[in-house]
Amino acid sequence: MRLVVATANPDKAAELGAILEEELDDLVELVARPQGVGEVEETGESLEDNARLKAVALVAATGEAAVADDTGLEVVALGGAPGTWSARFAGEAATYADNVAKLLAVLEGEIDRRARFRTVVVCRFPDGTEIIGEGVVEGEIVPVPRGFGGFGYDPVFVPEGGGGRTFAEMSPAEKHELSHRGLALRCLAARLKQSKAAAPASSPRLPTS
Ligand code: IMP
Repeated sequence: MRLVVATANPDKAAELGAILEEELDDLVELVARPQGVGEVEETGESLEDNARLKAVALVAATGEAAVADDTGLEVVALGGAPGTWSARFAGEAATYADNVAKLLAVLEGEIDRRARFRTVVVCRFPDGTEIIGEGVVEGEIVPVPRGFGGFGYDPVFVPEGGGGRTFAEMSPAEKHELSHRGLALRCLAARLKQSKAAAPASSPRLPTS
């Protein structure tokens, strides 16, 4: 089965490709998003809506199965923000550094530093069926960025089970082991394998959940 990966963000594409290849090596051939397929506006109200918008657009453009993810950082003291606004927290053209700076500014003096990353990944087939995976990692926001790995909010996010290190202080493999994206993709991979085993001669079909 061929799966087109629907992200133009090279940081995310690298993580998605590495994890999916590890989990699904024998099952799928990953195909990069073709040049010329434009960006899809993330206008959905939930991570699942946004992931689906991207996957559906790519299926329409290529006629092949596609996998797309959407991730949000949910900060408890901010009522779950920035959530679906994580990429644009500090404004439409915000850089990773702008977003981190804004996050640290709004949390200055805040004692409750709890936060979680959530990823929803949608694998959509040309016949309209889909399989969804979700991953959540709990953690906390540290007041001073640490580490040079990863991307986005990684330098200020310390996941549970990571020995007190930020994601940016981990190797890619260590991050994938614990991360929201790793969990969501392993969940998707397990469901894809399960559906493939149930219907070996056809495309996977599971109820959307
Ligand atoms: P996206 O909509 O899935 O591209 O993610 C929205 C924003 O969340 C990105 O622009 C990053 O700032 C942030 N983000 C997504 N995944 C991660 C991650 O694994 N670590 C840190 N930040 C992330």
